[in-house]
Amino acid sequence: MNLPNLVKKLPEENSLDSRPRSYFNHSVEFKKVFTAEERAEVLEKAGLNVFFFPSEMITGCDLLSDSGTTTMTNEQWASLHLGDEAYGSNMGYFVLQEQVREVFGKEFFNDMASEAPNAFIFHQGRAGEGALFTSIGKLGTGLIIPSNGHFDTTQANIEANRIQALNLFSPELKDENSKSYFKGNMDIQRFKEALKKHPGKIPVVYLTVTNNTGGGQPVSMENIREVSELSHNNDIPLFLDACRFAENAWFIKNYEQGYKNKGIKEIVREMFSYADGFTISFKKDGLANMGGGIFLKSDGLFVKKYPRIPDELVNYQILREGNPSYGGMSGRDIMALATGLKTVTKEEYLDYRVKQVQEFGQGMQKFGLPVVMPIGGHAVYLDVSKFFDDTKLKPEDFGGISLVALLLAAYGHRACELGYFAFGSYDKETGKDKFPDVNFVRFAVPRLRYERQDLDSVAESVKMLYDSRDKIPGVKVVYGKDLPLRHFKARFEFKH
Ligand SMILES: Cc1ncc(COP(=O)(O)O)c(C=O)c1O
Repeated sequence: MNLPNLVKKLPEENSLDSRPRSYFNHSVEFKKVFTAEERAEVLEKAGLNVFFFPSEMITGCDLLSDSGTTTMTNEQWASLHLGDEAYGSNMGYFVLQEQVREVFGKEFFNDMASEAPNAFIFHQGRAGEGALFTSIGKLGTGLIIPSNGHFDTTQANIEANRIQALNLFSPELKDENSKSYFKGNMDIQRFKEALKKHPGKIPVVYLTVTNNTGGGQPVSMENIREVSELSHNNDIPLFLDACRFAENAWFIKNYEQGYKNKGIKEIVREMFSYADGFTISFKKDGLANMGGGIFLKSDGLFVKKYPRIPDELVNYQILREGNPSYGGMSGRDIMALATGLKTVTKEEYLDYRVKQVQEFGQGMQKFGLPVVMPIGGHAVYLDVSKFFDDTKLKPEDFGGISLVALLLAAYGHRACELGYFAFGSYDKETGKDKFPDVNFVRFAVPRLRYERQDLDSVAESVKMLYDSRDKIPGVKVVYGKDLPLRHFKARFEFKH
């Protein structure tokens, strides 16, 4: 028998439990060695706030954010050397133009010297959001921007321009019995009601793909199509917050009917065909450490309705970011970003990426930890209220803060509290706490950075803490309880 036929008789390589990664290490960085005692001492001095903890002392996994934390590929490192630091029209700008056209469609990047510039680069996502919502805010009063779930800086930039941000999370997000893979969808019923209730007051509709605030859950093509149709029927443009567009496309390919045999690139093109523009932080699916942008469809409803906004965006860029051809980035950053965009839509990359996050979450689940299901594209979320359910901790003890502090000090892994403390608030006048609906600790997985055994170690460490949960004390907030964005600034002490 010849070798190909013999191979066919063996179990397929896809059936292996331990699949090899789709890449190998190009270079490695050794961590410094610190003991739990040393970490504990430093964290205590930092008021138990993990944001203040020096990253070089993290001996385990740093899962604080997946934003800007990507390990670059050898091609990206090589492309840095090709960075052109010219003030005007650097070479990278044209390489990026070609790449954006290739991934999202040529209608999203006209020539800069054309009469209709429609692509605006910024140093990161929120800088672009600031520019866009400054312009939209000038369109009138009483405006409202609905979304399937605005990211926190997006919402802050909207509100800073006196526009109301409306979050229409899918009801399935909170439904534990729902088997939906697309809990990031917009609630269509509530969207229809909003359209009726606010005629003439909605300048643009937003869909965040994947829905970071909504547990990193993806949005289905059906939902994108439906929201687009409803918006357009009401003469309203649709925008995507496209930070994790490729991961979202992976979910559509793998879980939505009719997409299994389509390529990721084709799916991405379809997603963007329904939108009139998008904002993006390239620090996620740009596989870059820096970069962002606003891209308007050249013949889309947004440029038709608001023809003055593109020029305002150019002015904003020149005032705050520099020449529009570098938009607050160095030429070498632009090259690394353009090269990252080439990799991110590769199926072998995405397959490994999303499955790594899923397996990490399943590992936690096997330990009996209360993981939010299904597992999203870029992070695993732990339900803190359930974690401490059978203990004496009360919401005002902020158990999530204790959990992330102990995980870092005892086991060297950094995660992020996104729950009662981060999203709650405190009224100084009444002395009352206000708690949000969700109470999570998020383990965001940086792209191409860690191996399975690193993440297994995180799961095992959390399990150790779970087994000792009745011994974990709550925290007292010693500074910053009443401040806005308090989780970045506050300091804590353990209660006893
Ligand atoms: C969905 C979403 N939108 C916008 C942003 C803002 O991007 P940046 O951090 O580059 O300002 C983020 C950042 O995490 C995000 O997750």
